[in-house]
Amino acid sequence: MATAGKVIKCKAAVAWEPNKPLVIEEIEVAPPQKDEIRVKVVATGLCHTDLYHLFEGKEGFPTVLGHEGAGVVESVGPGVTEFKPGDKVIPLCASQCNECRFCKSSKTNLCEKSWSTNPCPTMAGPVTRFSCHGQPVLQFACTSTFSEYTVMNKIDLAKIHDDAQLDRVCLLACGVSTGYGAAINSAKVQPGSVCAVFGLGAVGLAAVMGCKSAGASRIIAVDINEEKFEKAKIFGATDFVNPKAHKKPISDVLIEMTDGGVDYSLECVGNVELMRSALESCVKGWGVSVIVGYTDLHDFAARPIQLIAGRTWTGSLLGGYKMKDDVPKLVLDHIAGRIKLDEFVTHTMNLEQINDAIELMKSGKCIRTIINMSK
Ligand SMILES: NC(=O)c1ccc[n+]([C@@H]2O[C@H](COP(=O)([O-])OP(=O)(O)OC[C@H]3O[C@@H](n4cnc5c(N)ncnc54)[C@H](O)[C@@H]3O)[C@@H](O)[C@H]2O)c1
Ligand SMILES: [Zn+2]
Ligand SMILES: [Zn+2]
Repeated sequence: MATAGKVIKCKAAVAWEPNKPLVIEEIEVAPPQKDEIRVKVVATGLCHTDLYHLFEGKEGFPTVLGHEGAGVVESVGPGVTEFKPGDKVIPLCASQCNECRFCKSSKTNLCEKSWSTNPCPTMAGPVTRFSCHGQPVLQFACTSTFSEYTVMNKIDLAKIHDDAQLDRVCLLACGVSTGYGAAINSAKVQPGSVCAVFGLGAVGLAAVMGCKSAGASRIIAVDINEEKFEKAKIFGATDFVNPKAHKKPISDVLIEMTDGGVDYSLECVGNVELMRSALESCVKGWGVSVIVGYTDLHDFAARPIQLIAGRTWTGSLLGGYKMKDDVPKLVLDHIAGRIKLDEFVTHTMNLEQINDAIELMKSGKCIRTIINMSK
């Protein structure tokens, strides 16, 4: 490649400060160093966690957001043998070094080398290969897919099948894998069980898809935006509840609907009150509630009797998947028709329209907008 070993100047959407629109800038992307790969981003989704950082984050700016991308290898640094230019890849916001205590355990996907497993107010790794107007710019979630090029360490990159459709499988980098795996790996939904999913964005809809795929007999979809119910039905939801349409607490409504509570509930919003409601909607004895929605702003609370009575309260990062190993398998599941992706995509835009995509998500008017980087 003509660009190998050289700095690439390209377009990126820079978040200079919290709460402000992103600015399309020309940034400089350094060549990949040892064990690194430079990736041409082809398509990227926008996940609520990008919005969380932009609107709730205080540290970690300037940065380039975006962690739901897919692309093609442009060049590789010294020591990289597993990737070559032209390979289709997915940048990962969680590492898998395969050497640390956590990678060696089958019980977790929390690699010790991942920025996300260490308390990290900046939501970025210590290294960035980006600069703009002579100033370093952080790589949000290490990925920064709102840039035409990004640089990844080999422990943060998954090689995927050549037949993968990049403007769809990008959703497996975060939202879809997160919800789907939360149901299958974290809740471990059993055939014939009754589930409730709170929040029907891409994460929640993927959780509905996971419950269905695990054989749930009834899936109750909960959202304050009733426009989401139609999509939830496509993914397998059987019942639909808008908490605002009831005077009673939503947990009481679900307990009545299910003769004592659901077997599994998944909170896919990031609201601590709702996390409590999701727990309290579970049946005593064996109910499992999984926290999937992200927030670091508030503590959660519940009465201890909820757990003493046999409920389990747990959480899930990226669906519990060991991303470098598992994302390529999920891509194959999509190619084989076992995982839906088209149905999540409600809008397609280009990078110049990124602020419109942010507004769409803020106002609840989309499921996923795909940003096409080459248009
Ligand atoms: N755990 C992880 O690894 C992980 C990974 C990705 C995303 N997330 C988090 O998952 C959450 C969902 O992400 P998304 O991209 O699907 O977001 P989204 O904004 O597309 O969807 C959120 C949905 O929740 C609904 N909602 C809001 N308040 C509600 C309430 N009180 N009751 C019921 N529904 C309510 C909204 O109407 C919307 O449909 C976010 O918090 C995100 O940060 C976590
Ligand atoms: Zn995400
Ligand atoms: Zn590791």
